Amino acid sequence: MSTRAKITGTGMYLPDRVVTNKDLEELMDTTDEWIRQRSGIVERRYIEEGQLPADLAEAAARRALEAAGLEADQLDCIILATLSAQAEFPGTSFFLQEKLGGTVPCFDLRAQCSGFLFSLNVARSFVVSGQYQRVLVVGCEVHSTGLDHSTEGRDVAVLFGDGAGAVIVEANTDETDRSDILEVRMHADGKYATKLWVESPGSGTFPKRWTQEIFDSRGHYPKMEGKFVFKHAVTRMPQVLRQTLDAASVKIDDVSLFLFHQANLRINEYVANQLEIPPEKIRNNIQTYGNCSAASIPILLSEAERDGALNRGDLVSLTGFGSGFSWASAVIRW
Ligand code: COA
Repeated sequence: MSTRAKITGTGMYLPDRVVTNKDLEELMDTTDEWIRQRSGIVERRYIEEGQLPADLAEAAARRALEAAGLEADQLDCIILATLSAQAEFPGTSFFLQEKLGGTVPCFDLRAQCSGFLFSLNVARSFVVSGQYQRVLVVGCEVHSTGLDHSTEGRDVAVLFGDGAGAVIVEANTDETDRSDILEVRMHADGKYATKLWVESPGSGTFPKRWTQEIFDSRGHYPKMEGKFVFKHAVTRMPQVLRQTLDAASVKIDDVSLFLFHQANLRINEYVANQLEIPPEKIRNNIQTYGNCSAASIPILLSEAERDGALNRGDLVSLTGFGSGFSWASAVIRW
């Protein structure tokens, strides 16, 4: 029998510090009403001084390990998806590995808000091919230290929050256990790379990655063409979701739970309407956590498991869209 890729544990960690829309009103020319209406966001979490990305990742990973009944030294590989790495190099995964102990191979994967789904696909391939038995996949972001909290940066700054989510993907060879990551489909279109990006620090900036000019032109802050990104998100997400379900011969009606990336509540409502998915089959948490990029989907998954919304045998669909552009979907038999 072929090996299946089973998610055996999930975990999440959000920093304690709550930053409300009202708090942001103190920093920039914005309003609680604008943020709620345009995005659905009410509050988000930010790290405290001294908290590192790897601390968030470790907390989420330890919860996932506990849920799977594993010790860290039983892992074969760690994949960490992030766009807000702890250092220029090495990747955040190395700082996480040091915290978990051992010398298991680890690497960061950069596919922005689709990073978790891309990583899940890599983990699935490792497990199904027989190379590894147990892979830890983490989505971890600390956005708060990289946002432009002035009025100039308000269109982006109000949207993002910090957090981490994690899953354990294990080889499943039990013939009576159908739990599996059934299909994942990934897409990318680099011609839109600068529609949502942070230019610097980057080795394309000459003669130095850091210059006063870059600072002065705010090139170290994220820039986004919001409406353009919105239009692509609401087109690509339903496409890839359908493509993935079709590949697995699964119908929309057969899916118990749909989890979408948390970029904007309006995007998710639009996608759900297009696909005629009833509201009770959808969970969102952007209201309380904002957009946590690669961490949003694993946080949602972990919340769903914690709340008893996931039962073994259920079909779960995960879909995301983000910078790159990148987009992906996975369908899982839980
Ligand atoms: N507070 C108050 N006003 C703001 C604001 C803020 N935080 N940010 C922007 N505005 C203003 C703009 O300056 C603009 O003013 P103007 O009409 O006087 O020029 C107005 O609000 C409308 O801005 P616009 O950018 O057109 O708003 P929008 O309806 O497109 O909503 C987003 C903005 C960002 C919420 C929306 O475009 C979006 O969600 N985009 C996609 C995000 C996404 O999917 N990201 C990918 C995954 S990470």
